[in-house]
Amino acid sequence: MTPPIPVPSPAREWIAILDFGSQYAQLIARRVREQKVYCEILPFSCDPAALLARAPRGIILSGGPASVYQEGAPRVSADLLRAGIPVLGICYGMQLGALLLGGDVQAARAREYGGTRCHVLDDADLLSALPPDITVWMSHGDQVARVSDDFLTIARTDTCPLAAVRHRSLPFFGVQFHPEVVHTPLGSQVLHNFLFRICGCRGDWRMESYVESLLAQIRSTVKDARVICALSGGVDSSVVATLVHRAIGDRLTCVFVDNGLLRKHEAQAVLHAFRDERGLNLRFVDASTRFLEALAGVTEPETKRKIIGREFVEVFRDAVRDVPEVTFLAQGTLYPDVIESESAFGGPTARIKSHHNVGGLPENLPFRLLEPLRFLFKDEVRAIGRELGLPDSILLRQPFPGPGLAVRLVGTLTPERLAILREADVIVTEEIEKAGVYAGLWQYFAVLLPVYTVGVMGDERTYESVVAVRAVESTDGMTADWARLPYDLLARLSSRIINEVKGVNRVVYDVSSKPPGTIEWE
Ligand code: XMP
Repeated sequence: MTPPIPVPSPAREWIAILDFGSQYAQLIARRVREQKVYCEILPFSCDPAALLARAPRGIILSGGPASVYQEGAPRVSADLLRAGIPVLGICYGMQLGALLLGGDVQAARAREYGGTRCHVLDDADLLSALPPDITVWMSHGDQVARVSDDFLTIARTDTCPLAAVRHRSLPFFGVQFHPEVVHTPLGSQVLHNFLFRICGCRGDWRMESYVESLLAQIRSTVKDARVICALSGGVDSSVVATLVHRAIGDRLTCVFVDNGLLRKHEAQAVLHAFRDERGLNLRFVDASTRFLEALAGVTEPETKRKIIGREFVEVFRDAVRDVPEVTFLAQGTLYPDVIESESAFGGPTARIKSHHNVGGLPENLPFRLLEPLRFLFKDEVRAIGRELGLPDSILLRQPFPGPGLAVRLVGTLTPERLAILREADVIVTEEIEKAGVYAGLWQYFAVLLPVYTVGVMGDERTYESVVAVRAVESTDGMTADWARLPYDLLARLSSRIINEVKGVNRVVYDVSSKPPGTIEWE
């Protein structure tokens, strides 16, 4: 596939965040956007002339793991700091700015990590509207040891005499602490001061106007061509399909594949929501037999995932073979995926599971990519969905993996075992939703184990399957904790599953967090 169509900067005012490899770069972006200011994360090495040509209102230099005085440490040109555009350096960004403007950076006496009291010495601009003492979060080994006379110290802590500084004549500000993390409770005020007092932002980044600009961009990119889209019914593909449909109507063809691994009534619900209610041109492919045949006898989790991924591509390719003049493939790629693949220091991370989803189509498909959500975070995608009139039942759906029930059915996949899992899963969903505890949960579902246990029902001995119930709390799926569900809810779940699902005589609750467990069982 050709590289994605660049989506022009969607807002009139924007902030550039230069990434020096910080684990917090995305968080800085979230915090800026929460203040209704559009921003983008760019690698520190981006071309400064091109950056300035796009006229950001301000530049934030992120933290980073390097030491500024190390050989080959990431740097920006000092010209960027002299361009007249306000710059806020955070941690490494501050150290780099201080160094480029004539100061010294040294290893601190002790690495400082954690919350600490910080004394505000000057509340004129960056630290405006803050009390004299604030709690800030520090995470650094180096610190600025000396600044040139052109600097003013505006905050200090007991161990860090230059906790925040500003230049006297250039609009450069630096904070050694991290205003973007929740452990700096007034950090958003610091960012607010930078964005509004110093950069003069208006904070007019709104989803209503962004939807209009996205529609215009999609129309001007696609022109008279056609677009195809693999719709799974998940949040991202649902929003993309609805958006592109709003832009070009029936020139969008969506494909929904039933791989036989969906939850009960899922296929009907997606068809109803998108074909019947929203009038999308939606092709439904029932490929369940094909998938189940390909998976027959396979138990190894990675093999299952690979087979499902491969079959999906084949089925999708067949489904769009006759669509004329297709040039574009619309995908629900989000900003975190983009940042991940383009991150300043992004190296390959250990692969735990080969994820498959509708966005995971291979490189060699003959389409151009249309990724209208590629600058958005998940909550912004939901806001776009709301603007487009999608209901919460779609927008607040819990994540459901591309390989579907296959990764929740440990052991061999058979239609009978799938039927057992589907019935158990419906009960888990119903009871958790009825109990009203679902709002705090990331995911909740049933897992069917390849284990048979002895039980007694009436006067009869039984020898049947075990179902595990999994319910987790998480903010991003990267880490998770098992949910402390009320005992009476667990009791109802267990009793209903054992009584109503034929073939199950035991229910267990999964009390593993991630890490070391993963959310799905396979
Ligand atoms: P794990 O099991 O790795 O899952 O802790 C983290 C999150 O990702 C979801 N997941 C997937 N999503 N394709 C997807 O689109 C996949 O292959 C896949 N595998 C896991 C999982 O449900 C959880 O939210």
